[in-house]
Amino acid sequence: MEQTATLTESTPISNGHTEKATGHADEVRILTIDEYREAAQCLALAFAKDEVARYFVDTKDMAGYPEKQKWDLHVEILEYLVAAHCYIRMPPGKDVGDWLTTLRSGIWRLHYKLSLEGRKRFFTEFLPLLHDTKQDILGERDSDSYYLVYLGSLPSAKGKGYAKKLVQHMTKQADAENRPMYLESSAGANVGYYQKLGFELKRKIYLSRGEKPVAMDVMVREPFYR
Ligand SMILES: CC(C)(COP(=O)(O)OP(=O)(O)OC[C@H]1O[C@@H](n2cnc3c(N)ncnc32)[C@H](O)[C@@H]1OP(=O)(O)O)[C@@H](O)C(=O)NCCC(=O)NCCS
Repeated sequence: MEQTATLTESTPISNGHTEKATGHADEVRILTIDEYREAAQCLALAFAKDEVARYFVDTKDMAGYPEKQKWDLHVEILEYLVAAHCYIRMPPGKDVGDWLTTLRSGIWRLHYKLSLEGRKRFFTEFLPLLHDTKQDILGERDSDSYYLVYLGSLPSAKGKGYAKKLVQHMTKQADAENRPMYLESSAGANVGYYQKLGFELKRKIYLSRGEKPVAMDVMVREPFYR
């Protein structure tokens, strides 16, 4: 099962099959598809300097492109990813690589929106690496787990407990259903954050087509963690 998480400044919390808050900071609710752009905008700002998120646009063959064009592409990638998670409440065993999700969310457009190198990075390195690592680490439980895909707070909304609230909303559900939770964190600084929420570091994986490797921390939270 996959999750997209985003927080908006006015009310943040989203989760579970993609949720967004409406005006009360304590409220967690499921996003509707017509809100995907707003959610993606929030994530784009949260991940503005994130090396993994920027991996597909900060390529050598886009070096000469105006920053605005790269930013628009960065936002667009997140829009497709959020849309993928809004459109389909993905049943066990499906992911964003599923053809129907690819079609409905618009992810297929990245085949011609990204540069040649960006395309290789996204489709032949990033997606397969995430997919294979998750399968390897979770084994038979892969299709029975919650997948925390993107979690981000607007820079101005950080430190207010919104992200924690969102994650805890899901950890409670995962505990009740006896399911593990899985994530890849793109910033080493977040490992401590997720450890406090019950996740354990399982593996470090690397994207290696750039000038220097970009690391991601793979973490799992077992149900009924104390
Ligand atoms: C990671 C992120 C989502 C946290 O969001 P946030 O809304 O600022 O976090 P919260 O306010 O819910 O923090 C809750 C708690 O975590 C603590 N915390 C925050 N960052 C931490 C860190 N790097 N290490 C340990 N604890 C941390 C806070 O002090 C707070 O602790 P408390 O509950 O004991 O007071 C946010 O920093 C962000 O958007 N980062 C950029 C995108 C990103 O890296 N996303 C995650 C990778 S997928």
